[in-house]
Amino acid sequence: MMPRKRLGRTDIEISSFGLGTVKIGRNQSLKYPQAFDLPDDQQVRDLFACARDFGVNFLDTAPAYGYSEERIGDLLKKERKDWVISTKVGEEFTPDKFSDEGQSHFDYSAKHTRLSVERSLRRLRTDYLDLVLVHSNGDDAEILMNTPVIQTLQQLKQEGWIRAVGISTKTLEGSLLATDLCDAVMLVYNANYPDEVTAIAKSMQQDVAVLLKKVLGSGHICHDAHPAEDPIQAALDFAYANPGVTSAILGTVNLQHLRDNLIKALRAQKLA
Ligand SMILES: NC(=O)c1ccc[n+]([C@@H]2O[C@H](COP(=O)([O-])OP(=O)(O)OC[C@H]3O[C@@H](n4cnc5c(N)ncnc54)[C@H](OP(=O)(O)O)[C@@H]3O)[C@@H](O)[C@H]2O)c1
Repeated sequence: MMPRKRLGRTDIEISSFGLGTVKIGRNQSLKYPQAFDLPDDQQVRDLFACARDFGVNFLDTAPAYGYSEERIGDLLKKERKDWVISTKVGEEFTPDKFSDEGQSHFDYSAKHTRLSVERSLRRLRTDYLDLVLVHSNGDDAEILMNTPVIQTLQQLKQEGWIRAVGISTKTLEGSLLATDLCDAVMLVYNANYPDEVTAIAKSMQQDVAVLLKKVLGSGHICHDAHPAEDPIQAALDFAYANPGVTSAILGTVNLQHLRDNLIKALRAQKLA
């Protein structure tokens, strides 16, 4: 079974493997190697059941992931309490009906942050959000220092709507700053981009949770690898070798890929 770890200084326990859910809700303007169709409800149910059977309790979603929040809310309404769900604020994505290129815009105002949290509560059919991450536009330091988004999320936490607050960063500077302000930081850390290692060390010292995104380079490592290599095992070995990593969040809509990834995640943690 996938081990659980405490999410920073909170009392929330998350599995060391999380399931990313972009691809259950959105298939426009993404950087994956191949175009894909959204999975149907039964396929998503099967993914969640498989993850749960391996002891995974952590799902990552966002308003900018199209229908992802709504689908999680619909499909998991009876088992809400069994899952730890992280969602985000700050990025809004509008799909284009006539082309494959939708548009994102970003809003870190207090008003938008509150509206976004209220909408996530409705879409996820819940009366609390376990973790809300700021969805960065790339200007992490500006967002953290000069917008009210973190302060507004901390207020919502005090009001009991949110259990933990964090940011999904795009810069090392942002991740280092976030460790002083948040319960969790989501960042990119893989063999092709090990630069965030100092932020992971600082987070560990300060008991801030580290959530990894793009562990497989959004799938590109599978395409670029030599046929003799196992790029998934190598990527997971790299991720879990760092003791500061709380959970590695991998995205897939392919049940066989999910099973393989879970087994390889256990192997990387010397549990299989
Ligand atoms: N700014 C942000 O906040 C942000 C940005 C990016 C990601 N994230 C979060 O992190 C999660 C993961 O990131 P990600 O989806 O970009 O990257 P990822 O987990 O590195 O890669 C996902 C891609 O790898 C493919 N893949 C997975 N397992 C595979 C296998 N065993 N064999 C071959 N291909 C495989 C998937 O395709 P198949 O579906 O075909 O398996 C998918 O296209 C996201 O879902 C999201 O929750 C957050």
